[in-house]
Amino acid sequence: MAKYLTMGVETSCDETSVAIVEDGTKVLSNIISSQIETHQPFGGVVPEIASRKHLESITPVVQKALDDAGVGFQDINIIAVTYGPGLVGALLVGVSVAKAMAYALDIPLIGVNHLEGHVYASFLEHKFDFPVLCLVVSGGHTSLLHLKGHGDKELLGQTRDDAAGEAFDKIARYLGLGYPGGPAIEKEAQKGNPQAIEFPRAWLEKDSLDFSFSGLKSAVINYVHNAKQKGQEVNRADVAASFQQAVVDVLVEKTAVAARKVGTDTVILAGGVAANSSLREQLTARLKEEGKTVFFPSPVYCTDNAAMIACAGYFRYKRGEVSDLYLNAVPGLPFC
Ligand code: KG4
Ligand code: ZN
Repeated sequence: MAKYLTMGVETSCDETSVAIVEDGTKVLSNIISSQIETHQPFGGVVPEIASRKHLESITPVVQKALDDAGVGFQDINIIAVTYGPGLVGALLVGVSVAKAMAYALDIPLIGVNHLEGHVYASFLEHKFDFPVLCLVVSGGHTSLLHLKGHGDKELLGQTRDDAAGEAFDKIARYLGLGYPGGPAIEKEAQKGNPQAIEFPRAWLEKDSLDFSFSGLKSAVINYVHNAKQKGQEVNRADVAASFQQAVVDVLVEKTAVAARKVGTDTVILAGGVAANSSLREQLTARLKEEGKTVFFPSPVYCTDNAAMIACAGYFRYKRGEVSDLYLNAVPGLPFC
C-alpha cells in the first residue's frame, strides 16, 4: 500500500511546530521551536510577540521538518493545520502557510481542532481499540470524553471555571515560580509534603463528572495571604505539593468513575498537564487496581506539537473531512 505523508502545522500558542508523519502515526520528524524564553520576562504569553515569533520561525521550521524526515515538498500528500482554538494572530500564521503550501503543491488541506490534536497524541505511540475514555488536561481545557470511534465522541464532563493547566499557571505565578507554571510547580512540589496543607477538593454534585478549580485556587491564595499577614513563613514547596495533590486527587477519582461508567478498560490522557509525573503515577496505580490500562503520550507529545495535528488530520482525511482554501483561524473554536 502506498505510504501517506502528512505535514502537520501547529502555531496556536507559543510553539511553532511542523511535523512529517507517515500513515497517520509514524513520526518521521517533529520540530518544535519554543518561544518560552521570549515570553518568560512577561510571566505569560504576549499574543502580539507570539505572532511575530511564529512568522520568523515558520519557514525554517518547515524546512527542518522536511530535512529531518529526509523528504521534499513533492513527497507530501496532505497538510493538516491547527485552525483553532488559540491566539488569532498566532493561528493565522500556521493557517496561511499551510494554505499556501497546499495550493502550491495542489494537495488536500485539513483544518484540525487543537484539542482533537491533543487527543490524537496517544495514537502516535500506542495501539488500542475503541471505546476509550480520554481525560483532556490542557492549559485551556479539562474534560472527560468517551471516544467511541474516530470522529465519534461524547462529552461526559468538563471544567466549570479554570482548566487544570490554567490553575497550575496561576498558582505558579502567585508563588513567584514563573511561566510555564505546570513544570515549575511540579519541580517545587518534589521538595515539599503533599499532605502538609489540606486544600479543598471540589467533588461537585453526586455523580457529576464536571470539574472546578477556582475554589482551590482561591484557597491557596488565601492560605499564603493569611500566613503572610500573621508574619508566618510560608513553605513554598509544601504549598506547591499540597496544591498539586488536590488537583491530582480530583482528576484521578473522576477519571476512575468515568471509566467505570463508560465500561471501558482503556484510558488515554491528553494535554500539557498529562506530562505531570504525580498525575501519571497516581492515575496508573488507581486504574491498575480496577484492572484498567492507561496510556500517556511521551512528554513531548503532551504539550503542543505538530505530530499530533498531523495524526488527527490524517484520520480526518480518511473520513473524507477535507477543508477548502477559505479555511480561516477560529480563536474560539469549540471542541464538543
Ligand atoms: O496542552 P497545552 O499545550 O495547553 C493548551 O493547549 O491549552 O499545555 C500547556 C499547559 C500549561 O498550563 C502548563 O502549565 C501545563 O500544560 N503543563 C503542566 C506540566 N507541563 C505542562 N502541568 C502540570 N505539570 C506539568 N509537568
Ligand atoms: Zn495545546
